[in-house]
Amino acid sequence: MNILSVVGARPQFVKAFAVSQELRTRHDEVLVHTGQHYDEELSGVFFDTLGIPKPDYNLGVGSDSHGKQTAEMLAQLEELIEKEQPDVVFLYGDTNSTLAGALAGAKMDPAVAHVEAGLRSHNRDMPEEINRILSDHASDLFFPPSERAVEYLASEGITENVHNVGDVMYDALLLAQETALTESTLLTELGLDGEPYLLATVHRPRNTDERERLEAILDTLAADSRPVVLPAHPRTVERLEQYGLLDEFEERLTLIDPVGYLDFVALQADANIVVTDSGGIQKEAFFLGVPCVTLREETEWTETIDAGGNVLVGADPDAIRDALSNPPQSTSDAEPYGDGNAAVKIRQTLERYVE
Ligand code: UD1
Ligand code: UDP
Repeated sequence: MNILSVVGARPQFVKAFAVSQELRTRHDEVLVHTGQHYDEELSGVFFDTLGIPKPDYNLGVGSDSHGKQTAEMLAQLEELIEKEQPDVVFLYGDTNSTLAGALAGAKMDPAVAHVEAGLRSHNRDMPEEINRILSDHASDLFFPPSERAVEYLASEGITENVHNVGDVMYDALLLAQETALTESTLLTELGLDGEPYLLATVHRPRNTDERERLEAILDTLAADSRPVVLPAHPRTVERLEQYGLLDEFEERLTLIDPVGYLDFVALQADANIVVTDSGGIQKEAFFLGVPCVTLREETEWTETIDAGGNVLVGADPDAIRDALSNPPQSTSDAEPYGDGNAAVKIRQTLERYVE
């Protein structure tokens, strides 16, 4: 089988790390990097440290408005699909790279397969929610990570070729955890070995693009007695500079550049609490049994909330403070996102579908 996989942003490299190696045990994969993320610490480091195959193509689209960025990817992906003639176009998650792949693939011959299908935050102000819905409705084969995602697809009329395989980020974490814990030296470099600390990430436009909101979040975190390690997305650094807040928070927080996956897993595993607006990090904290405080009003990863290990606090200082002093604890033994063998199940399902 010939598979053309599309990746472009950080979490997609982590997902491809788990899945590409499995697909390549039996099939030919052309890996296409759209170039949505291009900085070394958001892109190159993942390929270098995780042994992800080097992309066969890098479309080099870079940053732009959503329309221009997606359009540039779409135009180039269409040409590539024409050239490579894959049986399957393989997509991950909910970024603009996902949407471009779905649109290009749906209007051409190959089957379109979507990993992380069926997730819904029910907040259409998030660009990712639009990307999820449209990508699902342009796909042929669906790999939702949970039963709830299966139900959401059904509620939108998608009931055929839906396979709950579990979550591929669980596979990735299980593959990387031991190496991360034995090889990462970051905690020592930060002087945090054996020390209590909070790990935070903030990158959603809703949290970064309004000065008061970003300041309220960071000010509340900085007031905690524990050090706060914050590997900052370039968007967040740009905004802090623009708001004249960068110097202040460089002093009050341990602001560092984004780190590679192995270092980030090591940071998460030892943190007292993870505070984030990321999708993937909510799940990883849950898998690692680390309390997660989510800087959003809603989440598509509701199973982590139901299990008790995650709490939604938005940007409300009182709610953040409460959660930091009474961290959420998972009380459930359920494994809502499968058993960490999603990649194998995906490969086997693809084989049955294409034959
Ligand atoms: C994107 C995804 C988001 C995902 C995130 C993962 C969309 C709509 N958003 O958000 O779902 O959670 O990736 O991290 O697809 N920039 C750099 N260097 C880079 C890439 C970006 O400096 O290598 C800066 C640019 O100023 C750019 C901004 O970050 O404008 C935002 O980048 P973009 O890829 O548009 O969105 P993300 O916020 O990264
Ligand atoms: N991550 C990383 N280094 C960092 C921050 C995050 O390797 O400095 C990893 C994290 O472990 C997870 C993924 O990136 O696997 C999450 O990506 P992000 O939060 O950017 O996107 P989202 O999941 O919200 O789409």
